[in-house]
Amino acid sequence: MNVSDSERVATQLAAEGYEITARESAADVVLLNTCSVREKAEHKLFTRVGQVGKAAAERGVKKPLLGILGCVAQLEGETLFARSQAIDFVLGTRAVGRVSQAIEKASGGQKFYADLGEREETYDWAVTGAQRHSPYVAFVPIIEGCNKFCTYCIVPFSRGREKSLPASEIVRHVARLRREGIKEVHLIGQNVNSYRPRTDDGLGEFRGATQFSRLLRAVAATGIERIKFTTSFPRDFHPDIVEALNEHENLCNWVHLPVQSGSNRILKLMRRGHTIENYLERIDKIKSSPRRIALTTDIIVGFPGETDEDFQATLDLAEYCKFNSAYVFKYSPRPGTPAHEMSDDVSPQSKTERFLRLDKLIRFHQREVFDDYINRTLEVLAEKISGKHSGQISGHSTCQMVVNFEGVRDLLGKIVKVKILESKANTLYGKIC
Ligand code: 5AD
Ligand code: SF4
Repeated sequence: MNVSDSERVATQLAAEGYEITARESAADVVLLNTCSVREKAEHKLFTRVGQVGKAAAERGVKKPLLGILGCVAQLEGETLFARSQAIDFVLGTRAVGRVSQAIEKASGGQKFYADLGEREETYDWAVTGAQRHSPYVAFVPIIEGCNKFCTYCIVPFSRGREKSLPASEIVRHVARLRREGIKEVHLIGQNVNSYRPRTDDGLGEFRGATQFSRLLRAVAATGIERIKFTTSFPRDFHPDIVEALNEHENLCNWVHLPVQSGSNRILKLMRRGHTIENYLERIDKIKSSPRRIALTTDIIVGFPGETDEDFQATLDLAEYCKFNSAYVFKYSPRPGTPAHEMSDDVSPQSKTERFLRLDKLIRFHQREVFDDYINRTLEVLAEKISGKHSGQISGHSTCQMVVNFEGVRDLLGKIVKVKILESKANTLYGKIC
């Protein structure tokens, strides 16, 4: 979501005559887009702010205008000015459409300029090719914000309430991307499957048990080559999503379904709204698909009150699910969340031990999952020349695996069939067939 926000900010600024530079030393304005999901991410902001000031001082030039965007900006607002004098303006998560006003105000001498307001009704979600992270892959936001209030999570506070974009706009957006030569779209949102637009506009003829599965069918009908979506919320993961995947080749073989814990007791304390039993029902439905759908997840270890037994339940769950990959995080208390009021009673040492044990188990199963791709043929979008091995191209499969293979530059942007010969670390290696 943050990468997508940055792409839109860059698009808007370029349209207004600003030149986007990748060289920080050449910049008159530096914008830092921030994350507050864990404390570590927040700390990074202050390290980067310090670096911007220091780099200018070392070169003996005036410090560039410095703007803070994103979740930390939204949560901390004007207090950021007191924490660092180098910060010139602050722009909240839904105020990014007014970035040029903020630059103008701050460069005109206005001190402590902060805009934490709401998104304009006319906000333009489009991104131009030049500002996209990839020439072939585009992010398409379909829902922003979150209403779930999991007890550990700051996102509902930083990103506000759920707001779904009209389906007609999303479908038009994807159709335009297809015409522009984009091969893969990622429908993104904190919880894509909680998608609930105000009207059925754009969904009319498409059937489905939920508005999200209808949207999947509507987007599939645009004929774009690949559609991925992330993140899905387990409670709202209706089996009809799997049916839609089974029906449409261009809906990809990948579901990211964050479980967070394998213990029902902890899930309840987290207020996740799902139990392990209903999570596993969803996993079984996904695994029963005739397609080979890759599963990924997020897990938090060391949530307040997590016992060895609770943690063992998480290990058991990982054993059962055999994820393609899992993002494992140590619990990080976030001020303002309900869990912050609970005693953070798992010691840092236990958190580290649990993190390492779970990570090891997941990697162990990963080997098994990855080795199972050997001798299979995957469809891979050739995205870039591999940085590590010259003559090799790197891309993603429909199941979101990184695949490297020998090939020439002309293949970039094409979807090719690659026979997998080897799996190493997080990458599959193969040859075009
Ligand atoms: N501590 C640790 N991990 C967290 N996440 C969200 N909030 C916290 C927190 N306070 C993780 C969850 C979520 C992912 C994006 O970040 O696993 O799915
Ligand atoms: Fe955070 Fe829960 Fe919302 Fe995900 S669903 S963004 S974990 S509150």
